[in-house]
Amino acid sequence: MDNFTFHNPARIHFGRGQISQLANEITPDMRVLITYGGGSIKTNGVLDQVKAALKDVTVFEFGGIEPNPHYETLQKAIEVVKAEKIDFLLAVGGGSVIDGTKFIAAGAKYQGDTWDIIESRGGVVTDAIPLGCVLTLAATGSEMNSTSVVTRAETQDKLFFSSSHVFPLFSVLDPETTYTLPPRQTANGVVDAYVHTLEQYITYPVNAKVQDALAEGLLNTLKEEGPKVLENPTDYDARANIMWAATMALNGLLSTGTPGDWATHLIGQEITGLYGLDHGQTLAIVMPAVWKYRKAAKQAKLVQYAAAVWNITEGSADSIADQAITATENFFEQMGIKTRLADYGLGAEIIPAVTAKLEEHGHVALGEHGDITPKEVAELLELAL
Ligand code: NZQ
Ligand code: ZN
Repeated sequence: MDNFTFHNPARIHFGRGQISQLANEITPDMRVLITYGGGSIKTNGVLDQVKAALKDVTVFEFGGIEPNPHYETLQKAIEVVKAEKIDFLLAVGGGSVIDGTKFIAAGAKYQGDTWDIIESRGGVVTDAIPLGCVLTLAATGSEMNSTSVVTRAETQDKLFFSSSHVFPLFSVLDPETTYTLPPRQTANGVVDAYVHTLEQYITYPVNAKVQDALAEGLLNTLKEEGPKVLENPTDYDARANIMWAATMALNGLLSTGTPGDWATHLIGQEITGLYGLDHGQTLAIVMPAVWKYRKAAKQAKLVQYAAAVWNITEGSADSIADQAITATENFFEQMGIKTRLADYGLGAEIIPAVTAKLEEHGHVALGEHGDITPKEVAELLELAL
């Protein structure tokens, strides 16, 4: 196990009715901006619950944050924050609303061109408006981490930044808020959380037993509970298990003392930026291809995963690795997320555009060994056609 320092300051209020905790987190003297997306929180009653909890507080609203939140939209929210002298941001929605709100929080305190925040990957951030979250989609872990992914629509750049200043102070996780998710978003979320776990687990062994056992527990949970909620969207226990698994998958615990891959995410981000595929869809396409391409280097962990999650133990190590990759693809397909570029009307013609964007963004040494350059990305994407 490698050395690490771990600190996560986000307080979690988990369970039915926990939106009422907002009354304890936010005091009447605060001027609060509620940020949200395209309106799902209005039709499913979540906004009403939030407003009821904040009935004694001065609240403003900023809606219309898109999936894969646009820099251009977030700039408008920063103007509202400044004009209304907002001193607390409350993100109510999925990963896009939370990520967008992190950018608003940092941008409102930044003196220069706010795109610097993205270009520096968060390095220029020294302050931010405090923020909290009401999560409505189990997927990204943004509710308990310090990362944000923003898209500049004008240039098709989708990039992340991280800063300890944008950690949520608290997040409310009520599984009942996820009952109204369309099946595609439920499935995207399960696949995203599953792949977050894999990015930090299918690398090479470092004898990190706690992290491996946690990863295997999360993968088994998502694999068992994911299909249940597609069948029965109001299965509270399954929704609760998925929600906590997704948060745990990317709150920093799995990355303590372990190598991380993240090639799938960085390649997937370019595909979303250029072609608009959902984040979860890009992961289901790219991860099997990365594994096929790096099967030998990842063999030991693929064999461990095969046994711990899929009960696959028969055959040579190479055959077991193949079976684990196939089982993973089948799981994504079972969740309704297709695993080939062709399933989304894309083909080999996208490869030069994707590798050019990776070069432009300086993402030229991907994977746990830093040995996946744009040339290797071009080769591995051939395995995803
Ligand atoms: O906009 P509304 O109307 O709310 O509808 C949303 C949106 O259309 C809908 N939705 C959310 N909760 C709902 C609901 N519909 C009905 N009932 C509910 N309870 O779902 C759609 C997708 O929402 P979005 O927030 O985009 O999804 P997700 O949570 O999957 O977030 C994806 C974004 O997070 C980034 C992704 O790149 C992408 O931009 N990520 C953030 C990470 C992080 N901060 O650590 C890590 C991830 O790897 C990921 O990159
Ligand atoms: Zn992700």
